[in-house]
Amino acid sequence: MKRFVVVLVLLIISFVLVAFGSNFNQDFDITWGDGRAKILDNGNLLTLSLDKISGSGFKSKNEYLFGKIDMQLKLVPRNSAGTVTAYYLSSLGSNHDEIDFEFLGNLSGQPYIMHTNVFTQGKGNREQQFYLWFDPTKNFHTYSILWNPQSIIFSVDGTPIRQFKNLESKGVPYPKNQAMRIYSSLWNADDWATRGGLVKTDWTQAPFIASYTNFNAQIKTNNNPNWFTQSLDITGQERIKWVQKNYMIYNYCTDLKRFPQGFPPECSTA
Ligand SMILES: *[C@@H]1O[C@H](CO)[C@@H](O)[C@H](O)[C@H]1NC(C)=O
Repeated sequence: MKRFVVVLVLLIISFVLVAFGSNFNQDFDITWGDGRAKILDNGNLLTLSLDKISGSGFKSKNEYLFGKIDMQLKLVPRNSAGTVTAYYLSSLGSNHDEIDFEFLGNLSGQPYIMHTNVFTQGKGNREQQFYLWFDPTKNFHTYSILWNPQSIIFSVDGTPIRQFKNLESKGVPYPKNQAMRIYSSLWNADDWATRGGLVKTDWTQAPFIASYTNFNAQIKTNNNPNWFTQSLDITGQERIKWVQKNYMIYNYCTDLKRFPQGFPPECSTA
């Protein structure tokens, strides 16, 4: 009887895992890289790889118009200088919208740069860059984009790091009409990524590998889910301040050289 209960519990646990676990075979297509991108472990794990010949990439089968999208990434370990892992949402066309995470690799023991940007109606130029408060190559960490009609919130392991608010009332276009897909790719950018191209990719370390797991997308259904109306509460705002104070290394909203005539309107409330 006891054994039966144990088996039953294990069965239930595995059903739950199957029902809620991500399946990369079901949700994503490999788009390029000639065998360098692999879906492994029954669809639970996806790896991108980069060698001297090429990188690789994938995209979601579904398009999203608003969503709360979580993905766990483990970035290229050791000497990853010159490699860039991009993970982003984007629509198509010249007036496209885009929400970006980009991870710029570094020499062993030196910090990655996490680069973020938001494009609306084809226009970006809203870069913010951060260091992370952990080594992103040791374990999987969750990178999330919450996108609803009021705001876009970037988070890392549940800590919000950036918010882009809907400021259409101030004339700032906001992404709300064009559905986006999820894209990711790993490529070589040693012409600019590492200290402006000073540090070159060390091909003796190739292949470089980034891994993905536990994808989860919450979409809007008829009964408005929580995230659809969510904005940053006081705790969230304090967390963003903490991240920006301690880990932000670049903010277009404070770059006077770029905006001598005054900062873009979203900067006054960002
Ligand atoms: C790499 O590490 C150096 C030294 O800590 C740092 O200045 C730089 O911003 C880091 N990131 C990149 C992409 O070069």
